[in-house]
Amino acid sequence: MSNTLQPGPLPASMQLDDNGKLRHFLTIEGLSATLLTEILDVAESFSVVATQPVKKVPLLRGKTIFNLFFEPSTRTRTTFELAAKRLSADVMNMNISTSATSKGESLLDTLRNLEAMYSDMFVVRHADSGAAQLIARHVAPHVSVINAGDGRHAHPTQAMLDVFTIRRHKPDLTALRVAIVGDILHSRVARSQIHALNTLNTGEVRVIAPKTLLPENVEQLGVQVYHSMAQGLKDVDVVIMLRLQRERMTGALLPSEHEFFRLYGLDEAALAYAKPDAIVMHPGPANRGVEIASSVADGPRSVILEQVSNGLAIRMAVMSMCLGATGGGKG
Ligand code: CP
Repeated sequence: MSNTLQPGPLPASMQLDDNGKLRHFLTIEGLSATLLTEILDVAESFSVVATQPVKKVPLLRGKTIFNLFFEPSTRTRTTFELAAKRLSADVMNMNISTSATSKGESLLDTLRNLEAMYSDMFVVRHADSGAAQLIARHVAPHVSVINAGDGRHAHPTQAMLDVFTIRRHKPDLTALRVAIVGDILHSRVARSQIHALNTLNTGEVRVIAPKTLLPENVEQLGVQVYHSMAQGLKDVDVVIMLRLQRERMTGALLPSEHEFFRLYGLDEAALAYAKPDAIVMHPGPANRGVEIASSVADGPRSVILEQVSNGLAIRMAVMSMCLGATGGGKG
């Protein structure tokens, strides 16, 4: 497997309609600060829905959304499903292991058959980078595609919920130092977070990892590179931990998990390098004792479960904007 970041940038026209509104949500790369801020603001308005006795609004009534998860997921799949239900859409979760793809049907043939059921949106997670883009190129003009994570490439709704969580705790992004720690090389989350944070003019974005877990030329994404927790976490406002993504690793990139935790794990001692009010984040799934100590994951500075809650509001925002139900997207 190549040690580079991939695939290349997507033309903005691929994700936006003729009026510059969101049609597909495939990657953060190429989207404007104005659009990202609109997503955050719309999500802020939807976060109120979760606190109401009736947690439902009729914005996507009559719309049909298919969740197509070709890779395992806990948080993303369930929050997309719940978000669609809270918007009053009809939502179908395809069980890929029992679908006709296991009998040799191609991805695009599966898509065409689901499209024939008058679908309006596909939410896609796939192990191959670029899978959601491929689908977006082939769907009918009224159908939207949301990338729920493709290979090592992008996980744009995760990045938006992470920025949403940061903004709630520390509203002035331009004043912040954010450190992303761990397996950057295999992380679609890190790549999308870096694009989102830089587009929104975050003060400084750092990555902290051993050389074997960093993509070549990662600094070209606009990050400061560190190989030591003591230096990289010094005076940061936000610490984002990533898991080791063993399912995407080829070859031995680490001496051992024990050694990785000693050098790059977040325990109380390592967190002490950050600012006293720094928040701790993790997109999940977290591996306790491998990249994060339980005392930190469950500690007072952890906002990990807030990230999950905020995922609902972000996914409601993106789905409704793509389907033109909040002033954005197609009518
Ligand atoms: N953060 C994230 O994508 O988690 P899941 O794999 O559980 O969806």
